[in-house]
Amino acid sequence: MKYFELLEYNRAYEGSRDDIFIVTYPKSGTTWLQMIVYQLTTDGAMDFAHIDQVSPHLEDTLMPNRWKISDLPGTPRVVKSHLRYGDIPRGPGRYIYGVRNGLDVVVSYFHHTRKWPLEKQVPLDEFFSRFMEGRVPFGSWFEHVAEWIRNEDGLDVLVVGYEELSADLEAGVRRIADFCGICIDPADLPRILERCSFAFMREHNDRFAVERRRRPAPGEPERPIDATKPPFIRQGRVGGWRQELDPRWAAEFQEAFDRWLQELGDDRFQVLSGRPARGRAQPLTT
Ligand code: A3P
Repeated sequence: MKYFELLEYNRAYEGSRDDIFIVTYPKSGTTWLQMIVYQLTTDGAMDFAHIDQVSPHLEDTLMPNRWKISDLPGTPRVVKSHLRYGDIPRGPGRYIYGVRNGLDVVVSYFHHTRKWPLEKQVPLDEFFSRFMEGRVPFGSWFEHVAEWIRNEDGLDVLVVGYEELSADLEAGVRRIADFCGICIDPADLPRILERCSFAFMREHNDRFAVERRRRPAPGEPERPIDATKPPFIRQGRVGGWRQELDPRWAAEFQEAFDRWLQELGDDRFQVLSGRPARGRAQPLTT
């Protein structure tokens, strides 16, 4: 989408307090947050072919089709986005910003590129260099994270860490529910936690796979999922980068992390750097 079209789309946005934006840098647990919000706001029946039908991708599904957020059925209206802070439509709604340790993001992103056309694929070392320079789709992880956490315009933002969800899913789900003004019926909690587990989501990988996001035209078959490529719900690990990245690259990443995100200056966010927090392990909270 061209920049002026984005501005026009954003200008026409009629925000509602009930709108929920799930925003992340790619591969930071976006789909997990979409599933948590879906489970919190519905009976969680999984009656969708793809999660994009219940929380559509703003810049890939809505904007190119000129579909307005205000035309989405039901309340709350939930959208997913990878847009930078300055580019997101502004309104009185709620913005859930998901963050993940940048080194795990690199690895997850690299495996994701295995689904790209061969001519666009590069080896891991080259991918790492491009990531560090922001020469990958959605640009610099460092800038994305810094801008959203800084939240200069005072949007109603909740920062949720992938690591925090991994460590204690129930606590993360409750925090998201509180932020969205949702009261969880205790009878629903086991279903919510079970369906947001890695095992359940992996079992239903086809509902989340990127190959299935675009709905087929009438009469057109569903796009097949290539079983030779990593599944979308792939490993779901914290710290998996240690098995795949050269320690020298991790040092380079940490040096850039300190340069870009030093201002965060807070143990809560150190987890994003791949280093343990200085004090006791702390959850990421706003
Ligand atoms: P890995 O590739 O490290 O496995 P996004 O949705 O932003 O593209 O992020 C995808 C990452 O989130 C993948 O990471 C995927 O496995 C992980 N993920 C998705 N659902 C998850 C869950 N329920 N538990 C843990 N990780 C999950």
